[in-house]
Amino acid sequence: MTDAAPDAVVYGAGELVVGPAGEGPAPATDGSPPDPDEVLDVREDAAVAIVDGEVAAVGPTGAVTDRYPPEAADTAIDAAGRAVLPGFVDSHTHAVFAGDRSDEFAAKLRGATYQDILAEGGGILRTVRATRAADDEALLERLLGHLDAMLAGGSTTVEVKSGYGLDVETELRLLSVVERADEAHPVDIVPTFMGAHAVPEGRETAEYVEEVVDEQVPAVAEQGVAAFCDVFCEEGVFSVEESRRVLEAGREHGLAPKVHAEEFVRLGGAQLGAEVGAVSADHLLHANGEDIEALRDAGVVPVMLPGTAFGLGGDYADARAFRDAGAPLAVATDFNPNCYAPRMGFAATLACVEMGLSPAEAVRACTRGGALALGADRASAFPDGPPLDPKAGTLAVGAPGDLLVLDAPTHVHVPYRYGDNVVRTVLKGGRPVVGPEAEREADA
Ligand code: NIG
Ligand code: FE
Repeated sequence: MTDAAPDAVVYGAGELVVGPAGEGPAPATDGSPPDPDEVLDVREDAAVAIVDGEVAAVGPTGAVTDRYPPEAADTAIDAAGRAVLPGFVDSHTHAVFAGDRSDEFAAKLRGATYQDILAEGGGILRTVRATRAADDEALLERLLGHLDAMLAGGSTTVEVKSGYGLDVETELRLLSVVERADEAHPVDIVPTFMGAHAVPEGRETAEYVEEVVDEQVPAVAEQGVAAFCDVFCEEGVFSVEESRRVLEAGREHGLAPKVHAEEFVRLGGAQLGAEVGAVSADHLLHANGEDIEALRDAGVVPVMLPGTAFGLGGDYADARAFRDAGAPLAVATDFNPNCYAPRMGFAATLACVEMGLSPAEAVRACTRGGALALGADRASAFPDGPPLDPKAGTLAVGAPGDLLVLDAPTHVHVPYRYGDNVVRTVLKGGRPVVGPEAEREADA
């Protein structure tokens, strides 16, 4: 007797990454961190069957295909020794914007700093001008293009922040464009409201914070268009107190907190994140040992954004210190006009080469780590329901059928082949959306 007809069966994987080996932040019992090469549950000669969009079975090829014969599946893939991984969960992007800032890249090469550019009305504020001037259709087309690049690189779930509107009307417009993109595109989008991304031109900080708290947050909550509220807690942008007001207002309106913390200086955003129970704290280049412990003890997921650090000149967050403290690390792209790097594979490479993670740690941080940074295990932080499945970022039974077949035999090729794209096939909810199987489906 066999079970229900599967959407997809992928068999003959030389290596299949099910998820973390031993979920959770707890370090090994003797207090030492787990072996960096042993942090993934990797099966050999393995298969996975997806039924009704979810993983129904995972294990040895023979056992899975007896129960779910590939002939009965809508999509049958002989992985022929290739590696199979959960789809990447990119937990930090600012992907909805208009305009071109390539000249700022050139200016930085001549010695300008990010803050110099921002102080002269460039940077975020320049993208705000371009974004306000763009119509919804143009913003949507541009965002869909970014999502195509992300999906081709293996991201099946992507967080997208607003924050290039900086007024009620444009912030709502951006979030509605994000909602339309989510409906139109196979990538699942987790939307974040970030009206507190910068102080708009011609406004005082205090008065703008009032607008965010009194007008923007309630309007966003009313429309139900965001899961999170984020803030750029940074010297010269929003202070710890201002950031606290924004995050608390968000929380009162059902938006779970996230925080951009300790990117350029150590201001206190990490401690704030721990106090308000943020789901994640991101960047963290200047976090110290106390911050690392506070985040860990409060269950705040530290998100490493090595692509941004790379573009800013190569000062990186101390990923190993977070790992050694037993934190569940996430790695994300931070795709934005200042970090035009949409593929998770490149972030994984930098996480290994520049931050000292092992390939297994980087892959874990790009899959399950990303899902945890989006609250997959924090249902109570979302009064309107969690944005992700509790098993997202894994291929355990019951997880979403989001997977990658690499054009390579092991997960090590993800960081190893930088500048390349090792993703051959992407299944989203059990349906082929990238690769030869997707093209076949499109032709049929
Ligand atoms: O995460 N740090 C603040 N926000 C973005 C940069 C946005 C921009 O420069 O447009 C970041 O790196
Ligand atoms: Fe950011």
